[in-house]
Amino acid sequence: MDVLYSVLKRTYDLHKEEYEAAALRTLNSGWYILGKEMEKFEQQFAGYLGVKHCVALNSGTDALILAFRALNIGEGDEVICPANAYIASVIGVTENKGVPVFVDADEYMEMDADAIEAKITEKTKAILPVHLYGQPCNMEKIKKVADKHNLFLIEDCAQSHGSAFNGRLTGTFGDMGCFSFYPTKPLGALGDAGAVVTNNDELAQKVRLLRNYGSKVKYHNEINGVNSRMDEVQAAILQVGLKYLEAGNEERQRIAKRYLTEINNPFVSFQNVYQEAKHVYHLFPVLVEERERFQSYLKENGVGTQVHYPIPPYVADCYKEWGYAWEDFSNACRFAQQEVSLPIYAGMLEEEIDYVIDIVNHFS
Ligand SMILES: Cc1ncc(COP(=O)(O)O)c(C=O)c1O
Repeated sequence: MDVLYSVLKRTYDLHKEEYEAAALRTLNSGWYILGKEMEKFEQQFAGYLGVKHCVALNSGTDALILAFRALNIGEGDEVICPANAYIASVIGVTENKGVPVFVDADEYMEMDADAIEAKITEKTKAILPVHLYGQPCNMEKIKKVADKHNLFLIEDCAQSHGSAFNGRLTGTFGDMGCFSFYPTKPLGALGDAGAVVTNNDELAQKVRLLRNYGSKVKYHNEINGVNSRMDEVQAAILQVGLKYLEAGNEERQRIAKRYLTEINNPFVSFQNVYQEAKHVYHLFPVLVEERERFQSYLKENGVGTQVHYPIPPYVADCYKEWGYAWEDFSNACRFAQQEVSLPIYAGMLEEEIDYVIDIVNHFS
C-alpha cells in the first residue's frame, strides 16, 4: 500500500462543491481585490478567534513582516526567536533589519519559555513564539516575561489555527497574531494567503495601510507600504475552509491519538505535549536517532514522510554572518537531526492509518 505524506486533493474533495461554488461566485462578481469576500472572511476569522480585527494579507510571511513593521521594529532591534522554527518566522524580523536572538527549544519541541529572560538586553523589543507543529508554546510563562519586561509579543500561528493554551486560542495572547493560510495549513487557502489579527485599533489600521501601498484613499500614500492583499477568490475559499476548521482539527487529533496509543516501537519517540495545551496536530513529529534509515525504510514500504526542519534558521546559509554553530542550541540541533513527520491529514483512510502504524512498529 502507498500512503502519501500529504494529499491536498483529498482534503479539497471533502468540500469540493462548496469550494467551487465560492470560487465561481467570486469569479462572476467582477470584483477581485479588496472587496466583500475579503471583508467577510476578516469578520468571520476575527469572530472565530474572538478578537477585534483581522487584516487579510497575501501570506504568512507578509503577516510577520508587516506585524514587525507596524510596531516600528527595525535596524538593530532585537527580537527573541525560537531556535527550532521555520525560516519564515525569522524572515519577519530580518526583512525589517531587526536582529533575531535565539533561545533553544524545550522538551516539548517548542520555544523554551524559561530561557527567554537571560537573552533580554536593552535592545530587546519583542518576543516571537512560534506554535510549531500545531502545539501552542507555553504562553502563560511567555506572556508573563513579555509583560514584566514591557516587550511586544508577536505570535507566529502559521501552524496553530484553533490550538489553545489553558483554553485561550493562539493568536489572542500577543499584540498581534500572524497566520498563514498556505494550502497545507489547518486552515488552508487554495493558493497563498495570510492574516494579522489584533485587538489594537491602531496596529490594525497600520497593517491595513501597509498592505495597500500605504494608502487608505487611492493615490494618498500616508506611509511607505507594499502590496500584500488577500485576493477575493482566496477569501471566498477560506470562508468555506473556516466552517470545517474544527472538524479537520478533530480528525487529525483522532489520528494522532491512534498513533500515540498504537505506535509502540522503542526506536520512535513522540513530541511531549503540555498538559495545558490543545494540540491541533498540523504535523505529527516523531524523533528517531537513525532518521535516514527510518525514512528510507518507510519509503521502501510506501509511506511518505517529511522533515520539519532539517536546517534550523540559526545555521541557515543566508544568516552565516551571525556565526552560530549547530551545537549552540542542543535541543534544536537534536530535533533538526532526528525529527520525522508522519502522514496526518483530513480525509486519511482508516486502512492507511492502520498501515502506517503497522509499518512503523516493524522498524528495527
Ligand atoms: C511557522 C511558520 N511561519 C511562517 C510561515 C510562512 O507562511 P507562508 O508560507 O504563508 O508565507 C510558515 C509557512 O510554512 C510556517 O510554517
